[in-house]
Amino acid sequence: MPTYQSRGEVPRKRHIQFRDNGTLLTEEVMGLEGFTGNESILYHLISPCRVKELGEFEPIEREEWIPDAHAHRHFKTFGTEPEGDEVSGRKLLMWNNDVEISLVRPAESMDYFFRNGEGDEVYFVHEGSGTLHTTFGDVPYREGDYVVIPRGTTYQFEPSGPQRYLLFETPGLIEIPKRYRNEYGQLMEHAPFYHRDIHPPTELRTHRERGDFKLKIRVRDGYQDYVIDYHPFDVVGWDGYLYPWTFNINDFEPITGRIHMPPPSHQTFAGPNFVICSFCPRKLDFDPLAIPIPYHHSNLQSEEMIYYVDGQFSSRKGIEIGSVTLHPSGIPHGPQPGLAEKSLGATETHELAVMCDTFHPLRLSKLAQGLDDGQYAYSWYEEPGAEHTYDQDPAGATSHL
Ligand SMILES: [Fe+2]
Repeated sequence: MPTYQSRGEVPRKRHIQFRDNGTLLTEEVMGLEGFTGNESILYHLISPCRVKELGEFEPIEREEWIPDAHAHRHFKTFGTEPEGDEVSGRKLLMWNNDVEISLVRPAESMDYFFRNGEGDEVYFVHEGSGTLHTTFGDVPYREGDYVVIPRGTTYQFEPSGPQRYLLFETPGLIEIPKRYRNEYGQLMEHAPFYHRDIHPPTELRTHRERGDFKLKIRVRDGYQDYVIDYHPFDVVGWDGYLYPWTFNINDFEPITGRIHMPPPSHQTFAGPNFVICSFCPRKLDFDPLAIPIPYHHSNLQSEEMIYYVDGQFSSRKGIEIGSVTLHPSGIPHGPQPGLAEKSLGATETHELAVMCDTFHPLRLSKLAQGLDDGQYAYSWYEEPGAEHTYDQDPAGATSHL
């Protein structure tokens, strides 16, 4: 999506003969929004339609938890046990019709290839590194990367060491916010990242192996298995605007103001009816009378899910690395008692967090129920006359909320 790219060999023009050792290659136009959105054109050794065997279809089942009370929630996810692989190990935490948010801690390697046929994906790599092998070539990733995988991309993870991901899946498109781009698509000077921060596939490896390969595709709200008799990474060359890419959260240039900057200043990605934001270490508000942490606010039309990645979160009682807070719509939230006063004079924050704001309510899974601390909703309550008991380093203030 970010810019035009080309890997391997492509013919002089579209839709003309292109051969490999005399064999006419199969041209595939992989495009969005009919024939009007971004697209890439790939040249395959074998027709991508070719299937040897239709396997099982497994519907996705979501076990919903409907809490007894509407309240702010805190889920502790760090202790989630590794299970499955990057696809089978997805543990759904919350979702609506626009986005699904899952925890992934793979315990095993994928012995198959996967393609999401009905949605875009963003893996946030909290821990680990490795290579995402794809139809478009290798995509190396490391801790702090957002790995953006457009629908239709066939891939297989090759992780190096233990991995911990937060995964966003959407039936819509993951995009760079329009207000960051000019009419030609180039990122403008006020954008918090630039094209150099975006990493497309590196090396294209053309696989010519034949034999049985397992392919799993997410379609129609389930997983369809296929057996194909050729390696799916049989692309000789491709070009276009559609391909997987990475962006590291540490390359996000935070925007600081004299008084408090609102969450949209942290926006990294746009989806349909949701945004993904990056909260990075930064200088805090510098007006002499500034309150460097947020004002209370009522999310009348949105839900705020925050995943705490690193830093000091002592401003939020009980918050730890891997914590997820959910501030749902309809009720206000803000700093806990005493924190605004304590934050005065703080000049910087060391937090690192990923936030997803949705414009429609999020549903919670049974997994979320098991991880809910049950107490977070009361963290603003003090017995009448009690002193504020928070004893935190203002520099560690969670400054977005
Ligand atoms: Fe908020």
